[in-house]
Amino acid sequence: MSTNKIHKILFVCLGNICRSPAAQGIFESIVEKNNASDRFEADSAGLYSGHRGQLPDARMRRAAAARGYGLIHRARPVSSLDFPDFDLVIAMDDENYEALMHLAPSVEDSRKIKRMADYLTSHGISYIPDPYYMGHDGFELVLDLLEEACSNLYRSIV
Ligand code: 4NP
Repeated sequence: MSTNKIHKILFVCLGNICRSPAAQGIFESIVEKNNASDRFEADSAGLYSGHRGQLPDARMRRAAAARGYGLIHRARPVSSLDFPDFDLVIAMDDENYEALMHLAPSVEDSRKIKRMADYLTSHGISYIPDPYYMGHDGFELVLDLLEEACSNLYRSIV
């Protein structure tokens, strides 16, 4: 581990019911497997507040459960007040990235914003696609991408 500080990571997508809660659950699972739960905090939030309070989409919960991830996050909107609380704010796609850049209260905070796809090495894809209007394969693709990105993200920190 590079330092003793607690690393706080916020995953952000549009609805906070598909991609970002899955990223949170996958990242938390990696942290647990590495016995590093005292060193990391993960959360997720959405740019659209219409799903506030909801569990992740049932299709995502089902696909994630089949891989051993129990997704129990309740959707919440991201806020400019989140920035001081987190070290990294990770956007799932370019629209999320641009919206977060506008939301960041300072230049220093805007430097915390990263793209999830920046942590992909093997897929040649530049964003995590929104699976909301896709079929089952879309959810499986998103989980494949998030597993790789979360693993690389974890390795980039430790
Ligand atoms: P997410 O997917 O951003 O991965 O949570 C979406 C979920 C809901 C909506 C859009 C995207 N929606 O418009 O309701």
